[in-house]
Amino acid sequence: MPDHIKFGFTPFTQLQGVLVVFCAENLKFGPATQKALAPTGDLIRRAAAADRFTGKDGSTLDLVAPSGLRLPRLIVIGTGKESELKPRDFVRLGGIAMGKVPTAAPDATIFAEFASGPLKADRVADLVLGTRLRAYIFDRYKTKHKEGEERPKKVSVNFACANPGAVEKSLLGVTAVADGVVLARDLVNEPANVLYPAEFARRASSLAKLGIVVETLDAAAMKKLGMGALLGVGQGSVHESKLVIMRWNGGKRGVNPVAFIGKGVCFDSGGISIKPAQGMEDMKGDMAGAACVVGLMHALAARKAKVNAVGAIGLVENMPDGKAQRPGDIVKTMSGQTIEIINTDAEGRLVLADVVHYVNTKFKPKLIVDLATLTGAIMVALGQEHAGLFCNDDQLSERLIKAGIETGEKVWRMPLAPEYDKLIDSKFADMKNTGGRFGGSITAAQFIGRFVGKTPWAHLDIAGTGFSSPATDINKSWGSGWGVRLLDRLVAENYEG
Ligand code: BES
Ligand code: MN
Ligand code: ZN
Repeated sequence: MPDHIKFGFTPFTQLQGVLVVFCAENLKFGPATQKALAPTGDLIRRAAAADRFTGKDGSTLDLVAPSGLRLPRLIVIGTGKESELKPRDFVRLGGIAMGKVPTAAPDATIFAEFASGPLKADRVADLVLGTRLRAYIFDRYKTKHKEGEERPKKVSVNFACANPGAVEKSLLGVTAVADGVVLARDLVNEPANVLYPAEFARRASSLAKLGIVVETLDAAAMKKLGMGALLGVGQGSVHESKLVIMRWNGGKRGVNPVAFIGKGVCFDSGGISIKPAQGMEDMKGDMAGAACVVGLMHALAARKAKVNAVGAIGLVENMPDGKAQRPGDIVKTMSGQTIEIINTDAEGRLVLADVVHYVNTKFKPKLIVDLATLTGAIMVALGQEHAGLFCNDDQLSERLIKAGIETGEKVWRMPLAPEYDKLIDSKFADMKNTGGRFGGSITAAQFIGRFVGKTPWAHLDIAGTGFSSPATDINKSWGSGWGVRLLDRLVAENYEG
């Protein structure tokens, strides 16, 4: 989040800076908007005709220095048929609005009114969420800006609405979620020389300020617990592996928690089975699952969700080295099961094997959701529009699919079945860590499933959605923060109270 942008609320009578208004098809404006635009006479109608702008959903009309108004710029955004809009569309329209405000503009006023009248508080909040997500940029390592791209030191974006006071309340939840997404994006965007396991753990520890209980296990503690699979991945790195457990107890005492587990490979070189150089820099984002879990825990605590939740992230760096693990090595997991390493680049499942077992036995969660940038194969199957969902429980699966449609963070269910097990059986150990070329995402999920037991469990393969996904109206950043909104919604709809 560029912290130079300040968001505020004003009545419809106060106009400052770039003005953004909404209209339905056939240039239908709401009453407060009509009143504000009255001094422009038929200017908008003429400009719209010239531009063939009719108010279709997502279309925009841009007028510089509109006569009659003492404003630098007027932007009209089409909403299409209002009755067809879902809450996620308000988020998207907020993103479009923010995208039309020139980066050099110091002030903007966004009219939170559609053709049918002023927006209800929850919809204003959706609009705000969209603008905040769209405004996110990660530029902390840029020491100069290109000419013409300089940003003003301070920007204020004001939402004009009917009852500014009422919106403040709806805004609490939205601010919590937006801050969680921003936190996740920042973590994914950070380079691996800055964000190695200990530094990641330190940043996760700052959630303590929200009332989250954070505990960090170092390598010695994990060794005592027998986490040979996780530690094997990190043993070629100069950076010590860490396991961070975050607990938010907002629910009733004694109620079993919901658990979220993230793959936190701070850099995945592939290890001894080293990756090709092309695109390897993207592997700084191989901790997007862990980033999402931290962002989600932030959101839950900041909005004081009535739920008991555990977040656990396995933090390692996968490097080639004289001390690194080799193909052919056999490691013992905390669960007692043994794994033959075939490919040191299939490291995410090794990390998850130990973290999943630890969380499952220690916290007896009522469900587990893990997130991992686990396989390139999931992008071959689904592209970057859906994350792969693997689930041993139909109810949990349905709930995730629904939350995905509502938030726009969509998941697509893929199969799990015992028939795939033979692909990961090993000659020398209980299993091997790769299953060959076919069904690569499925065998990876099937592998994790061996450490879950009977607990309802969903695995989200976010290799396609966690970073470097196509830009959208609410995300222009490399790290997407994918999953924070999805899982916050999953919790809000099903596990609170
Ligand atoms: N982190 C990668 C998967 C990945 C690739 C995520 C591209 C995001 C973008 C993972 O650790 C990996 O290397 N997977 C291998 C598994 C294979 C060795 C069985 C893969 O997908 O090639
Ligand atoms: Mn890998
Ligand atoms: Zn990886």
